[in-house]
Parts: sequence; structure tokens; C-alpha cells
Amino acid sequence: RGTRRAGGTERDLVVVSNREPYQHGYDADGGVVVDEPVGGLTAGLDPVVQRTGGDWVAWGDGEADAVVTDEDDCVAVPPDDERYTLRRVWLTDDEVTDYYYGYSNRVLWPLCHDLVGRVEVEPRYWETYESVNESFGEAAAERATEDSTVWIQDYHFCLAPKTIRESLPEGANTVQFWHIPWPSWETFRVVPHAGELVEGLLANDLLGFHVERYRDNFLDCAAALDGTRVDREAGVVHVDGRTVRVGAFPMGVDAERIASTAANFDQHAWAHLAGTYGIDPNVAVAVGVDRLDYTKGIPERIGALERFWEDHPEWRGELTFVQKSSHSRSRIPAYERIAEEVTAAVDRVNDRFGTATWQPIVHVDDHLDQRELYGLYRHSDLALVSPLKDGMNLVAKEYAAAQVDDDGVLLLSEFAGAHEELDEAVQINPHSRDGFATAIHRALSMSTVERRRRMRSLRERVRDNDLDAWVTDVLDAASRDPEALRAGGRDV
Ligand code: G6P
Repeated sequence: RGTRRAGGTERDLVVVSNREPYQHGYDADGGVVVDEPVGGLTAGLDPVVQRTGGDWVAWGDGEADAVVTDEDDCVAVPPDDERYTLRRVWLTDDEVTDYYYGYSNRVLWPLCHDLVGRVEVEPRYWETYESVNESFGEAAAERATEDSTVWIQDYHFCLAPKTIRESLPEGANTVQFWHIPWPSWETFRVVPHAGELVEGLLANDLLGFHVERYRDNFLDCAAALDGTRVDREAGVVHVDGRTVRVGAFPMGVDAERIASTAANFDQHAWAHLAGTYGIDPNVAVAVGVDRLDYTKGIPERIGALERFWEDHPEWRGELTFVQKSSHSRSRIPAYERIAEEVTAAVDRVNDRFGTATWQPIVHVDDHLDQRELYGLYRHSDLALVSPLKDGMNLVAKEYAAAQVDDDGVLLLSEFAGAHEELDEAVQINPHSRDGFATAIHRALSMSTVERRRRMRSLRERVRDNDLDAWVTDVLDAASRDPEALRAGGRDV
């Protein structure tokens, strides 16, 4: 069992997340193969847990019988060089339908993104969410001791901390990071189990959000419950004779690795990648990178580009927009619809403006490896990051980290958490088609001096507040004496 030194205390680390960092399956010859973590949260945390050792508890979404394991479903990862133990929790199809596609992604996801009209409440979603949370809580408690820090990730597990607290009476140290926005109490209370969800989260010792607004919204929700006392200035909730700390810890990216990968992706590699997708490497390129999700504002972005090419015909043939999309949660009809809507919008604009030698929008939904993705960022003149609402949005930070030549422009939605930190970005309101189109024009016309000045400070900020800084901040706060803690985290 590995340990980590945080704030002077050594503690075992047990990470809990819905997605597993490595998926096990078979190759054509029947051999067991293991996928690398591809992105997002798990790719970010994997190197941390590799360094610290410990355990990772996650949904076993690979092939259930591809088991390289002892009887309690644990595997060593990475397989060729054991660094930590992956404990997989197996779910039935019904559990996946009701806990993952149901309560997590048809209730909590839209609710926390302020899209109450998309929330679909079904009693069986809640019942299954409760029982699956219990299974994850038990699995984490099995792997933990009272010397462990259990670090739970995200909205899939509001109720698991309670099970962990009950199963380990001596008390492990339990931390939860909420990666998506937290709405106002007026919005959150719309769901029938609002109180139980907040109570479940209050079983943690520390609860982290990306920005202070989400933290403050959560404190309002905690204050609305009976039996709680909230000290807003200190960022703590007193409940059941315990003190729960609530802080803001903006997540970062592995800026150094992104920069060195992008730096190695030279003009030659770029010309090759561009050629594969029919992108003319000699015209200006704007890029968007998203999961196909209705919160990401992709149709609005395409609408703004259409307006831009309408208003500025001189840019027809001179700017290509590359939308890199990945399919997501496709069993939910709203996700199927957004994928269709994006395809239709791309086709509409290409039909309207495309010529024999120029395709205005190139839609890439192939998998790109990290080298290609960071190379695409580096060689794109603009990034259009325009979610309608987003907890943080790490694409904005990855794009800045990849600008090793300091010459790209980031356009960033004022509704992304990242906006609070990255104020040298060109701010956009994704709902304003005209304003967005004007911002695209402004970004393309920006002087070299201004472009470089803005990008240099963005890169510096992203480098200073990188993934390591985030992990250290969260785990240091987790190991701090509750009474000594005045503010919940860094100021943003
Ligand atoms: C968001 C969530 C993550 C989640 C990711 C991908 O970033 O905060 O917890 O893993 O989306 O979504 P998926 O449902 O495919 O895991």
C-alpha cells in the first residue's frame, strides 16, 4: 500500500471515480489487453496515483471476464509495472441504465448545469443510485483504513461518503471533489431528494468545487437544511457535531507535458495531420474540442461562425473551423439529438459557403491521440471554447498550455469556470450570435503584440496552477486541522 506526504502527514490514498483509469478487454487472439486512460479526469489522476501508490475504486466497464485478478476483483495497474491497485465494481445492465444513464446523467447533470427542463425524475433512478453508491462506499471502505484519505470524484457519488463513514467508525479522512457546477438552492431544491443529496455530501470531511460561486451555492443549500450551521467566512458547515470544510480549488492541467508534446509536433507533422482531414494548413484554423453534450454550445458556435462568414465574406476561404467531437452517453436521447444537430449544422454551413477548394467546417469524430490533439491545438490560430455552462473546462487550459509559440487566441465563454481565472481570453457570450461573430473577427484581426501578450500571461497562469498544484492543494487541505482552516482554498 503506497503513501503520500501531504501537509506533513503520510496517508494512504484511495481514489473513487465512476470511470476506471484502465479498461480490460481482449485482442483478436484472445489475449487480455488494457486501454490507456484517454483523457479528462482519469487521465489526469492516473499519474498522481501511480506516484503515490494506493487504490482506485471504479466501475468495471471493460469486459467482465477479462480478469487478471484475484477473487475480490482487484488488478494491478499499469499491468506491466504495478503502481497501484484497481478495484473494479461490477454493475448490471439495469444498474448502468438507472444509476449512470439515469440519476447521474438525466437528473444531476442537467440540474447542476441549470437545465431544469431536461431533468427526468424516475423513482427507480434514485433507488439504484442509492444502492450503487452503497456498493462503491463499501468497496472504498474495504480498501481504506483509518489512516487513509479517500478521495471521491464527482456527482456520481453523493451518497457514498455516508456509507464510508458508517463502515469505518474510526473514520478515514474523506474528501470529495465536485467537477461540475453547483447551482443555487432555488434550482437544486427542484429534485425530490435534494436534502438527502446535500446531507450525503456533508458526510465528507472536505468538499471541493472549482470556483467560489459553486462553493457559495453549496453553502446556501447546506444552510437550508435543518440541523446545520454554516460559517460562510470560514467555509465550513457544522453538522452532527462535525465540521465539514468546503473550498474552491480550480483544477489545472499537466501543462509541462502538454507543452513538450505540442513542441515536438512540428510543421511537418501538422501538414500530415491536416492533410488526413482535408484541412488546408495555409489558411487560418480555429478549433473546438468537446464531448457531444448539450451543455457545450456547439450548435451556437456553428451559428456564430455562419454569421461571421455572412458578415465577413473576405474570410471565406481564409478560415477553416475544425470541430473535434467525441460521442458521449449515446443511450440518452438528448445526446443522440445533439449529435444529429451538430452534424446537420456542419452540413448546412458547408453547403452554404463551401467551394471546390475550401471546406469551412471539418468535423473530426475519430479518436486523436494526445500527440495529435496537442499538435492540433498548437497549430490552431483560435480556440472556440463556448459552453453554455461548464464546471471548469480543461480544453481552454490545454489550448493555452499548447501555445508554445505564444501566438494563438483563446475565445472563452463567460459561463465556463475557467473564465474566472483566464481573464486574458477574449470573452464571449455563447447565446449572443452577433457578439460571438464579432469576437471571432476581433480575434483574427488582433495585433501580434496583443496576441502574444495575452497568450504569454495565459500560459503562465496555466503553468503556475497546473494539475500538480491542484492535487497538492486538495490533499494539503484534506490533511489540515479543520479548526485551523479559515478559507476553503485558493482565492479565485
Ligand atoms: C465530465 C464529468 C466526469 C466525466 C466526464 C465524461 O467531465 O465531470 O466525471 O467522466 O464528463 O463523461 P462520461 O459520462 O463519459 O464519464
